[in-house]
Amino acid sequence: MSKEKERRMFVGVVWNCAAELKLLLTALLFLCSLITLLHFIPSRLITFSPVDLGSCISTPTAPLHFVSHLNATNSSTPSANTSTTTPPPAPEPPSLEKDRLLLNGVVKRAFNPFGSAAYNFILMSAYRGGYNTFAVMGLGSKPLHVYGKPSYRCEWVSSDKQKNPISVVGHKILPDWGYGRVYTVIVINCTFPVPVGNGENGGKLLVHATTNGGGDTNFNTTDTFEALSETGQDFVNFTSVYEAPPKYDFFYCGSSLYGNLSPQRVREWLAFHVRLFGEKSHFVIHDAGGVHEGVMEVLKPWMEKGYVTLQDIRDQERFDGYYHNQFLIVNDCLHRYKFQAKWMFFFDVDEYIYVPKKSTIKSVVNSLSDYTQFTIEQMPMSNKLCLEEDRGKSYRKWGFEKLVYKDVKTGIRRDRKYAVQPRNVIANGVHMSQNTVGKTTHKTEGRIKYFHYHGTIAEHREPCRQLVNTTAITVDGIPYNVDTTMRDVAATVKRFELKMIGTTLQRTRQ
Ligand SMILES: *[C@@H]1O[C@H](CO)[C@@H](O)[C@H](O)[C@H]1NC(C)=O
Ligand SMILES: *[C@@H]1O[C@H](CO)[C@@H](O)[C@H](O)[C@H]1NC(C)=O
Ligand SMILES: *[C@@H]1O[C@H](CO)[C@@H](O)[C@H](O)[C@H]1NC(C)=O
Ligand SMILES: *[C@@H]1O[C@H](CO)[C@@H](O)[C@H](O)[C@H]1NC(C)=O
Ligand SMILES: *[C@@H]1O[C@H](CO)[C@@H](O)[C@H](O)[C@H]1NC(C)=O
Ligand SMILES: *[C@@H]1O[C@H](CO)[C@@H](O)[C@H](O)[C@H]1NC(C)=O
Ligand SMILES: *[C@@H]1O[C@H](CO)[C@@H](O)[C@H](O)[C@H]1NC(C)=O
Repeated sequence: MSKEKERRMFVGVVWNCAAELKLLLTALLFLCSLITLLHFIPSRLITFSPVDLGSCISTPTAPLHFVSHLNATNSSTPSANTSTTTPPPAPEPPSLEKDRLLLNGVVKRAFNPFGSAAYNFILMSAYRGGYNTFAVMGLGSKPLHVYGKPSYRCEWVSSDKQKNPISVVGHKILPDWGYGRVYTVIVINCTFPVPVGNGENGGKLLVHATTNGGGDTNFNTTDTFEALSETGQDFVNFTSVYEAPPKYDFFYCGSSLYGNLSPQRVREWLAFHVRLFGEKSHFVIHDAGGVHEGVMEVLKPWMEKGYVTLQDIRDQERFDGYYHNQFLIVNDCLHRYKFQAKWMFFFDVDEYIYVPKKSTIKSVVNSLSDYTQFTIEQMPMSNKLCLEEDRGKSYRKWGFEKLVYKDVKTGIRRDRKYAVQPRNVIANGVHMSQNTVGKTTHKTEGRIKYFHYHGTIAEHREPCRQLVNTTAITVDGIPYNVDTTMRDVAATVKRFELKMIGTTLQRTRQ
């Protein structure tokens, strides 16, 4: 091929391309003039507002804004009235607000909220506490309560249409000592000036939860929810429980159970405490994820005998509070069973209540009956020191039988646990209640104490790690003395279990 031919072909290609380029350029030119025209012809739909152009010029980093002719109304209040059946009350964000250049040359910046990060209120339960009073348990946004002033109103709406609704200020109690995280525990005490529900064909308790500008000072949002719905029969049933003497002498409200618990340790704890508290006792266990198949096996025989109620509270895990929302759980338990128990105990499943041999648990509480609440001293036990004489056979012994070394370090303030007469308690905590009617005593030494086997309940290996043949030993700077108080009752407890539920749990794993 000659050079000339080659050149002509090249030119041809260029020309062919140029034709397409020309078309493209023409199209671009048309578009450009259209855009330029748009700048000057006010369109009904889209325009550069002069204000935005101005703000672009004065602040070159700000992007150009296309402003639609929708008015940015910042006063569009979110629905002040959310029913319980509709999904969570996310305040409807106002239509997008823009930065604006004010006449005095100041750039007014806009802040646009999206979504909502914590619920105003998460209802767990509400219970009647008398003819004119109710307790409502739930979680609230913690920053709202720490930095804002949310408030509550309680309203009783009778099913009898002739009766007017009656409304009072709800007294809020935050029982979790500031331990909450995203959510904090709230007990709302609704006390009406007159009895409600009596002789009515039922009614309902509404709670109006108002943010008072916490979260967004532009809005005073009120969420209304139905906390309790009561039929006429419910009221009659309440009355019969309320006016009757308590069904149980001793009631155990367990905290949230979590983790990979040892079935054997739970088995030992139950046998020990059913024996201690006796026939008129009941145990409510709250499963926050700790009751797996093995633990269920050891609860079952006692559930079948009516000693244990198991409640699945795993769903509270969605709402980040302190330790699986244990403060919420204990308040629910308090108010749910308030009138069924003479005394309610609050402690954990690695803790063992002990009263001296000369007394019984009944004689102890009778001696303290003037008090609404008493607290109980802790005996911290080693979770790894055992007796040399148990070598080779410790795996067959029960936890409280073989772990006999007591931490005797002095000058340490240790946690206490407590018991209350629940009819006089308005809200409670994990280590004591701060909202009681009546007296509290801490002077219970020599009458009642509890042994605490910390770190044993979720341990599946043999706890005995160090076998000791002296009555006193110091390990890691902590002095221990032998205390066989609990070891001495092991045989009796094992016989009791056998008598009560037979041999079903004999092959339980650690
Ligand atoms: C936008 O707001 C202005 C002043 O508040 C009002 O005069 C105008 O009618 C509104 N336009 C629309 C489309 O709502
Ligand atoms: C937005 O709120 C401000 C201050 O509350 C008010 O002065 C202004 O008029 C409001 N704008 C509109 C469009 O409602
Ligand atoms: C709340 O809703 C009810 C029923 O939908 C309605 O009758 C009432 O007016 C509303 N209250 C407020 C304050 O919006
Ligand atoms: C609410 O508080 C009052 C007064 O403090 C008390 O008498 C009442 O028992 C409480 N109600 C409940 C349900 O705890
Ligand atoms: C918010 O609304 C409630 C109920 O209507 C009212 O009692 C309260 O005073 C209001 N708070 C503020 C800060 O406006
Ligand atoms: C009320 O109590 C009776 C008898 O204890 C029981 O059978 C009934 O189911 C209860 N009713 C309600 C609505 O709880
Ligand atoms: C304690 O154990 C040590 C070493 O294991 C041994 O020498 C000693 O005889 C034991 N004492 C008693 C009283 O058993």
